[in-house]
Amino acid sequence: MQTYEDILVDSVQDGVLTIRLNRPEAYNALRTQLLSEIADVLAQAKDDETVKAVLITGNDKVFAAGADIKEMASLDAVGVMNDPRPAHWRAIAQFPKPIVAAVNGFALGGGCELVMHCDIVIAGDNAQFGQPEINLGIIPGAGGTQRLIRTIGKSMAMQLVLSGEFISAEQARDFGLISEVTIPERSFERAMELAKKIATKPPIAVRLAKESLLKAYETTLDSGLNIERKAFTMLAATQDRNEGIAAFMEKRKPEFKGK
Ligand code: CAA
Repeated sequence: MQTYEDILVDSVQDGVLTIRLNRPEAYNALRTQLLSEIADVLAQAKDDETVKAVLITGNDKVFAAGADIKEMASLDAVGVMNDPRPAHWRAIAQFPKPIVAAVNGFALGGGCELVMHCDIVIAGDNAQFGQPEINLGIIPGAGGTQRLIRTIGKSMAMQLVLSGEFISAEQARDFGLISEVTIPERSFERAMELAKKIATKPPIAVRLAKESLLKAYETTLDSGLNIERKAFTMLAATQDRNEGIAAFMEKRKPEFKGK
C-alpha cells in the first residue's frame, strides 16, 4: 500500500484494512486531499480480495472536526459547484464492503457525516457529535441533512443542524447514530474485534446484507422487500451458502471462500 499525506493506512490484518485520519494539527479537518486519499484507498480495497472490511479511525482527541474551513474559505459558488468533494463522498458511500468506525473526541460537520457513511460506529465516551455548520452560515454539505434525519429522526436532527449543539456518545447511541460506547482506550479494539469478526463471514452474503440494509433508506417497504428477496435468492446459488449449511449439519466450522 502506498503512503499518503493525510491518512495512515495499516497493512491488512485478518481481513481488516485500517485507515487512520492523520492531520492532528488541524483536528483531522477533511480537506479535499484527505477525502481523495480515502477514496483512493477504498477504490483499491474494493478489488482486493484480502480486504473483507475497513476500519476508519482518528486519534485520541478527535475523529474529524469537519470540512477544512480554511480550504473552504477560498471557494466561491462556482468553486463549490465544481468541487471534486461530492465524488469522493460518493466513492465512500458506494464502497461495497463493511466500514466500521472507531470514534474518540470530536466528530463534527463533515466528521459526523463521515460517521454516517460508516456502517457500524463504536465511540469512546469522550466522543462528541454535531453539525455546527450553521455557525459558519452554511448547512451540512456531505449528506448530513438527509442521513441525519433518516438515522436519528426529525426532532434531534433539527436540533443538531439548527442549533449547532453537540451530543455525547451516550446520546448518539440512544438516538441510533452509533451502536456502542466504550471507554476511549477500548473503542479501536472493539471496532477491530467487530471488523475481524465480519471478515470471517461469507463475503458475498456480507456484501448483499449491507446493500439490502442501505436500500431501506431510499425505497418503499415493498420494493425493499423485493430487493432483499432477490439477494436472498441469489445467495442460494453460492458455494458459501452450501458450505455454511453443511458445516452446521456436520457440527464443524465453515470455510467460506467468497464463491
Ligand atoms: N477546519 C480547519 N481547521 C480546523 C477545523 C476545521 N474544521 N477544526 C479545527 N481546526 C484547527 C483550528 O484552526 C486550530 O488550528 P490552529 O491552532 O492552527 O489555529 C486547531 O485545529 C485546533 O482547533 P481549536 O484551537 O479551535 O481547538 P479547540 O479544542 O478550542 O476546539 C473544536 C475544537 C470545537 C473542534 C473547534 O476547533 C471547532 O469548532 N472546529 C470547527 C468545527 C466545525 O465548524 N466543523 C464544520 C466544518 S464545515 C463542514 O464540515 C461542511 C460539511 O458538511 C462538509
